[in-house]
Amino acid sequence: MGEALLSRLIARKLYHPNTVLVSEPQTTRREFLAETYGVQVTSDNRAAAAASEVWLLAIKPQVFETVAAELAGIGETNLEGGQLPVVISILAGVPLNRLEAAFGDQPVIRAMPNTPATVGAGITAIAPSKTAQPNHLKLAREIFGAVGEVVEVPEQLLDAVTGLSGSGPAYVALMIESLADGGVAAGLPRAIASQLAIGTVLGTAQLLQQSALHPAQLKDRVTSPGGTTIAGIAHLEKAGFRSAVIEAVQASYRRSRELGS
Ligand SMILES: NC(=O)c1ccc[n+]([C@@H]2O[C@H](COP(=O)([O-])OP(=O)(O)OC[C@H]3O[C@@H](n4cnc5c(N)ncnc54)[C@H](OP(=O)(O)O)[C@@H]3O)[C@@H](O)[C@H]2O)c1
Repeated sequence: MGEALLSRLIARKLYHPNTVLVSEPQTTRREFLAETYGVQVTSDNRAAAAASEVWLLAIKPQVFETVAAELAGIGETNLEGGQLPVVISILAGVPLNRLEAAFGDQPVIRAMPNTPATVGAGITAIAPSKTAQPNHLKLAREIFGAVGEVVEVPEQLLDAVTGLSGSGPAYVALMIESLADGGVAAGLPRAIASQLAIGTVLGTAQLLQQSALHPAQLKDRVTSPGGTTIAGIAHLEKAGFRSAVIEAVQASYRRSRELGS
């Protein structure tokens, strides 16, 4: 996810490569990132933090405490124009209160991007700490705007965001796989079935986004009396499709709350 952000921030010229310093423990990854994106690299998190006015944390949540301990106190020694460096965290399940406890008075923004960000089609929810100012939110919007859409929510809604847009790509992938399997069962070659399934989901999402139609209106428009689509919908309803999806989002939301507490 860090590389997805890096690649698009550089490609879209939001940051010049000379102004970006990536801290990465593995030598081969460091060399790859320096060569591919022209950014500066280090294996020293403290050096990276001491030199930067924006700290973008893209480590696994399991190493958060270790990295936070390494960075303790560096913010105060790095006052750029009298401003403490802003911390932007994409770590799932690490709440603002833990980030605030780790980084003192530094402004903090928590963000929850999703996997389509890797192709620039993500959607990210951002939640600011009390110390974050409008300029910090603007910065976060610019950063995550490089990999897709951005919405702002209060932190208490981030678990619900995880349940929907965080886990959602897996649900949609399951739907696409099932559509393709259905096509194969009905006699289509696998490659064509997969292409049709992906194209159908992508096209339907674009149609809903661009037309602002309610999904129920779109469904009504493609179901003719006694036709093929209503026959398929009757099966989905019998199998509890809607409640399965609703409950999947709720189950992910609950799990996200459990992991964060
Ligand atoms: N992937 C997603 O769709 C997604 C969505 C929302 C949020 N997130 C969040 O994004 C974060 C990164 O996830 P990911 O899937 O991109 O994981 P990842 O590919 O494993 O990336 C983690 C990065 O942190 C580096 N790292 C490990 N230990 C470090 C240390 N002590 N100091 C500095 N860097 C260190 C890793 O380097 P090595 O590879 O060399 O170990 C790796 O480059 C996670 O907190 C996750 O919760 C991910």
